[in-house]
Amino acid sequence: MTARLDPDAVLVAVQFLEQERAKGVRFLRFDPDLAREWEEAAGRLVEGHPIPATPPPPQAALAPAKHSARRSALDALRPKVLACIQCPHLARRRKQVVFGVGNPDAELMFVGEAPGAEEDLQGEPFVGRAGQLLTKVIQAMGMTREEVYIGNVLKCRPDVETPTGNRKPTPAEMATCLPWLREQIKIIAPRVLVALGDTAVKGLCPEIATGITRLRGKWLDFGGTPLMPTFHPAYLLRNPAPAVKRQWWEDMLAVLEKLQRPITEKQRGYFRSVATSRLES
Ligand code: URA
Repeated sequence: MTARLDPDAVLVAVQFLEQERAKGVRFLRFDPDLAREWEEAAGRLVEGHPIPATPPPPQAALAPAKHSARRSALDALRPKVLACIQCPHLARRRKQVVFGVGNPDAELMFVGEAPGAEEDLQGEPFVGRAGQLLTKVIQAMGMTREEVYIGNVLKCRPDVETPTGNRKPTPAEMATCLPWLREQIKIIAPRVLVALGDTAVKGLCPEIATGITRLRGKWLDFGGTPLMPTFHPAYLLRNPAPAVKRQWWEDMLAVLEKLQRPITEKQRGYFRSVATSRLES
């Protein structure tokens, strides 16, 4: 009997192996369950959804791996998420799945809504304009982007008709993707979660109907982890009024307090007046 190799299945496997090699992985354990999932995924892709080429993993993913049980667990989860085609309409159009980035042992985890065009291209969450603002805020909190973990409710860019247009993920797409995020949160076990924007809050807590303007700044609970709902950085870019920035900053001060991190007087004063504004440039 001659075994026939399916070219799409081979492409999936080669992409996966290249990504693993780029991360410094030299040996792989054979997991029959995972192999079966890949077989099924490739089978469904062959039925009419070509796999786009995968660009190299983001720089952060190439950093030398520090070993921790959480990192290994995330590494084991990653290929499953990358192979996901539960939303075929998203899988068809995505350039890549945006898994999440940062410290597997993070005390603080930010959750956004979904990758945009830049994130889809780079494979890393929050690398566009909104992401640059988020990075500044993390730094203003006295932390680094590498120290926290950043993920999204939806791991694929919502398909759009125009290359520049973004749309919100649908509740059905978020419900389909949520188990992946739940798994990430379970592995990382952050002390505090921050939901960035109304959609992220609704993705994490579909039962909540209140809008973000009334919800922000009030602690919620996500399966035992304190969850701070706050504005999405893109909203701040559209509404850069100092009063709005101050509200966002107060939410971050509450997060620092919850984490029992030291807060300087200077930090307490950010955005109290326009003169102290630091995140505008
Ligand atoms: N907005 C999000 O919600 N997530 C990203 O990764 C980028 C922009």
